[in-house]
Amino acid sequence: METENTAPAKLPKLLLATRNRHKTREIQTMLGEGVLVTDATEAGNLPEIEETGTTFEENSKLKAEGISLHVRGIVLADDSGLEVDALGKQPGVYSARYAGPGCIDEANTSLVLERMSGVPHEQRTARFRCVLAVAENGVTMAVFDGTVEGILATEVRGEGGFGYDPIFMPLGYAETFGELSSEVKHTMSHRSRALVQFKEWWAARKS
Ligand code: IMP
Repeated sequence: METENTAPAKLPKLLLATRNRHKTREIQTMLGEGVLVTDATEAGNLPEIEETGTTFEENSKLKAEGISLHVRGIVLADDSGLEVDALGKQPGVYSARYAGPGCIDEANTSLVLERMSGVPHEQRTARFRCVLAVAENGVTMAVFDGTVEGILATEVRGEGGFGYDPIFMPLGYAETFGELSSEVKHTMSHRSRALVQFKEWWAARKS
């Protein structure tokens, strides 16, 4: 007698080149249930890729290409940070380690505020940037770039978010990302904007 196969169809998989479970959950939520998102913590035995690039694009490609050589299927990697115009777009790719290797967020924000001390409001323009790279078999297939423009506050404000959130006021707001809710931040963040582009690319590729 034949039995009916009720097993769910195999979902397409996407591997994230990150060990940050928060990013994995965020991306799974954005992409919905039609894709199974895994990451380097689940894949095991993946090499650490050194971020030796001088741009977000270089670093995201290094990670996506490097990891995709060790797994089957498509790999997505991101690199993000803060660009301050009056500091020549620093801290940029050094955002996580601006005040020194292994430093805490508060040391980084203090150093930016110190270097921006006395700089007038109209010259305090900055943006968060997130670049996503997609690769397979060591070759980049696409790159997406999301930004949110803003102004640097003159002091730390708010308890929410992480990194430079307490000193960044998105354009049109008098509050910092540290004061705004995470829902408001996600409607306009650099990461959400890059992910929207990736989602369109992923959907077009599947159809
Ligand atoms: P990553 O590339 O996402 O790991 O981010 C590198 C660094 O950029 C972080 O350690 C933060 O200092 C900064 N950064 C990236 N995204 C954000 C954000 O949404 N808010 C505040 N800081 C951020």
